[in-house]
Amino acid sequence: MCGIIGYTGNRQARDVILAGLRRLEYRGYDSAGIAIGNGSLNVFKDKGDLDHLVKIIPEMRGKFGIGHTRWATHGKPMKNNSHPMVDCNGEIALVHNGIIENNVSLREELMKKGHVFRSETDTEVVVHLLEEYYDGDLEVAMRKTLARLQGSYAVAAMHQKENGKIVGARNISPLVVGLGKRENFLASDVPAILEYTDRMIYLLDGEIITLTKDTVRITDFKGKSIKRNWQKVEMTLEGAEKGGYEHFMLKEIFEQPNSIRDTILGSNLNAESGYSFDLKPDTVKIIACGTSYHAGYVGKYMMEELARTPTTVELASEYRFSSDTSQAPLIIGISQSGETTDTLSAIKTAKKRGFSTLGIVNIVGSTMTREADSVFYTRAGLEVGVAATKTYITQLIAMLSISIKMGVAKEHLGIDDARYLTQEMRKLPKHVRSVLDQSDAIFDLAQEISGARSMFFLGRNMNFPVALEGALKMKEISYIHAEGYPGGELKHGPLALVTEETPVIAIAVKDQTYEKMLGNIGEVSARGAMVIAIGTEGDRELEKYADHVIYIPEVPPLFTPILTSVVLQLLAYHTANILGCEIDKPRHLAKSVTVE
Ligand code: F6R
Repeated sequence: MCGIIGYTGNRQARDVILAGLRRLEYRGYDSAGIAIGNGSLNVFKDKGDLDHLVKIIPEMRGKFGIGHTRWATHGKPMKNNSHPMVDCNGEIALVHNGIIENNVSLREELMKKGHVFRSETDTEVVVHLLEEYYDGDLEVAMRKTLARLQGSYAVAAMHQKENGKIVGARNISPLVVGLGKRENFLASDVPAILEYTDRMIYLLDGEIITLTKDTVRITDFKGKSIKRNWQKVEMTLEGAEKGGYEHFMLKEIFEQPNSIRDTILGSNLNAESGYSFDLKPDTVKIIACGTSYHAGYVGKYMMEELARTPTTVELASEYRFSSDTSQAPLIIGISQSGETTDTLSAIKTAKKRGFSTLGIVNIVGSTMTREADSVFYTRAGLEVGVAATKTYITQLIAMLSISIKMGVAKEHLGIDDARYLTQEMRKLPKHVRSVLDQSDAIFDLAQEISGARSMFFLGRNMNFPVALEGALKMKEISYIHAEGYPGGELKHGPLALVTEETPVIAIAVKDQTYEKMLGNIGEVSARGAMVIAIGTEGDRELEKYADHVIYIPEVPPLFTPILTSVVLQLLAYHTANILGCEIDKPRHLAKSVTVE
């Protein structure tokens, strides 16, 4: 993970870099630091997030520099392990996102040559290699250095003697170049520099970039020049502001009606229109991580019911090591960022196995959009909160749209049924709004459960993955231990943990699992657990079983995960807020997970 940025131009680099780091903070916030060139090299860095750095950073004048916000991999969060890293003489500064896998052997080699290491990081070998190979030209030194590295990296470096020059390179970790007027930028992600320019070049693996304020030179690792055209980025920065909400997460939860509408509009849902991928695969395999995996898991039920297509879901980090024996599957990778290394590696593995791949991605221009054979864009807009909310909801919409299309193509779903479902889908923004209207009532329930040390989330069928997602949201932002289980599975072990101290959140909407869920609620109530149920509007029966009920509007059963998920997002949000947690930046986490 980590976010990196570089600037060269006529502005004070410190201001541009600090503003950019603010927008990159979602990539990690264990430490932050910047280096500014001004004839000499000034480096300032510390453990802690950007707010801390901004409070203590001195005036640093100079018109080119680099910055970093860290998610720790090698070495604890502490000042010495913060970036930028500098060489022995304090002449070269470097920032890095990724992991240098052969850092141990390189460190030994460099130490034997007399280099003095000051950190425990894998990154530090890179700056000492630059020092070792430097002979008056940072780009040349970078090329020689990269030839020695194994692993993933986006790097940016500067040398105090080469005024106004920034050299960067990419292998696996993302890096984008922003072209300004008499100024140029480099960053892990577009929003960091979007305030200054919308003309971007997405660097590819194996490319080196050398920037001055007037020149941009891209070469391959052998030194051959590469010509690339810039692209105009359509993204706006609106999503990067809180817009009056207390947290980005809450704002993003409330943006979901619009995100759903935009994704439906973009999904080309007319039953007659086509997609660019195979709509009649024999089987489907969905690969993703975290919340995106849960969206894929819900998608499995949609795919099997609407398109009668056998569908499996695998964690991307596990897929690579499996011996996939499926016959002609369509592989669907789901990733909001399009940069999750585990998911990208899984897509690459699938392609090597000869399978065709489809990416469901939110970020335009991200790596997955280039790796996958076809792309379905979710249109959630920029999501800043580390906990995924609106991007997840739009992934569910994407899975629903694709399942309907496949159902029609495979003739399991009649055109009229498909039209009915798409009409119902268009009502979803309104239904989500009615769930959002219950935010205050959900807050009251959050107060009831915020003292718990552990809780269970139960669901069945397509609401089982929603239970997993509800538990994930709760644990990642409130730090309360939570587990998601299929309602029927509790009695096979976990019931032993249920007491009056473990609240149970049970999804008991009116579908074919309803009666069974009532039974499961009875089982946990009998053990003293306080039960909050999520039910279908008008279902008064449920109130006899549960201590509290939150209702969602009546929709086709396959659509219920979209509404039940919103209830659970709000429950996690309010619980974490009552506990005073850092909701947008949960401890140890980062939004874009670019390590394996
Ligand atoms: C949790 C969360 C993560 C991500 C996961 C995959 O709220 O956001 O679990 O879902 O890291 O990220 P993407 O979708 O970018 O591949």
